[in-house]
Amino acid sequence: MKYYTVLILLFTLPVMAVQWEALPTTPPIPATNPQTEAKIKLGKTLFFDPRISRTGTISCNSCHNILLGGDDGRSISTANGKLGKRNTPTIWNSAFMSALFWDGRINSLEEHAKYPLVDSTKMDMLDWQSVINRLQAIPGYRTMFASSFINGKITINNITKSIATYERTLITPNSPYDRYVTGDKKALTEQQIAGMNLFAEIGCISCHSKPNFSGPQLLDEGWLKKFPKFIGSDYDSKYRLLEDTGRHQFTNKESDKYLWRVPTLRNITLTAPYFHNGAVATLTKAVQIMAKTQLDKNLNIDQAQDIVAFLNSLTGQFPEQIIPALPKILETSVLLENTN
Ligand code: HEC
Ligand code: HEC
Repeated sequence: MKYYTVLILLFTLPVMAVQWEALPTTPPIPATNPQTEAKIKLGKTLFFDPRISRTGTISCNSCHNILLGGDDGRSISTANGKLGKRNTPTIWNSAFMSALFWDGRINSLEEHAKYPLVDSTKMDMLDWQSVINRLQAIPGYRTMFASSFINGKITINNITKSIATYERTLITPNSPYDRYVTGDKKALTEQQIAGMNLFAEIGCISCHSKPNFSGPQLLDEGWLKKFPKFIGSDYDSKYRLLEDTGRHQFTNKESDKYLWRVPTLRNITLTAPYFHNGAVATLTKAVQIMAKTQLDKNLNIDQAQDIVAFLNSLTGQFPEQIIPALPKILETSVLLENTN
């Protein structure tokens, strides 16, 4: 191959290799936990039920507000007067993520749902048995578990399985971007198309790939990338990018320092503030930071705004949510147990 052919290939390959994919209308579903109407309804009811928190006041929806962007709009999550450690990611489209939690330490929704229940900065239950005890005391739940599972029991596995089936319904297809890539050439504005091309050309897509812009789905190891990849910009100290060492906090391995899973960019305009520490308030700034820290490129304000216009086109259609009535409690004494 001639030198110039190689050059042309080098410069055109990334763009040509881009495969723009629309969001499927169903996410991957594990064979061990098929979607059923009964389970989805149970999972949704649990998602909205604050009684599986120590104080009886915090539900999954308190932080992952599905009536908004599926998050809490805060920099760092908070509950029980305690600050959490990181920003609340959106629950919308979490079924398409490559791995869960900012550091990607979990790779299934079933496995994940156990943790917020007993996290002292979240629902703060004493242990999983006390979650089960709370639910046992509510006859409506006994009936719902009986009709959702073959063994009919209220167990931690059945709790998390039902929550996961509900989470898999929280997807937002049919955004202007999805309509554009499936043939509706009028779905995007000129500025959005310019932003889309720039997004591919400068290499955002090398990490934010696939239909969810978060890389391949639910890998064993996740789709983990260094952030910041290029250390040394002013952003490091301004936005405290080196304080939390990411996956390293969990594994203690030097090679895992500053390793994070790649988050989705769908509905991103609804989920400010940005990054694992919620330190960045605007999307334009977040885009400029990404270009610098991940690609060692400076974007001027017009370029950043073109990309933001493109990211705007990733806001999809939110399935209508009807808030479930919670099954009534008869034996209040059980709810008060372990509560102060
Ligand atoms: C007090 C706020 C709070 C509550 C309550 C809460 N979460 Fe979260 N959730 C978070 C935060 C913060 C993270 C990210 C933590 C991290 O990465 O270390 C998270 C992460 C997640 C994720 C992973 C998303 C992703 O993209 O990585 C899922 C799924 C999730 N929560 C579901 C739930 C469910 C289900 C419940 C209820 C059983 C719940 N959460 C309760 C704050 C909360
Ligand atoms: C080398 C991989 C990589 C590249 C290239 C990259 N990103 Fe990211 N992006 C990440 C990772 C990892 C995070 C999560 C950072 C963290 O932990 O806060 C992220 C976070 C983001 C966020 C914040 C998401 C949120 O929910 O807070 C936005 C917006 C974003 N990227 C856009 C872009 C844009 C636009 C480009 C191109 C200019 C780009 N990224 C290039 C890996 C990358």
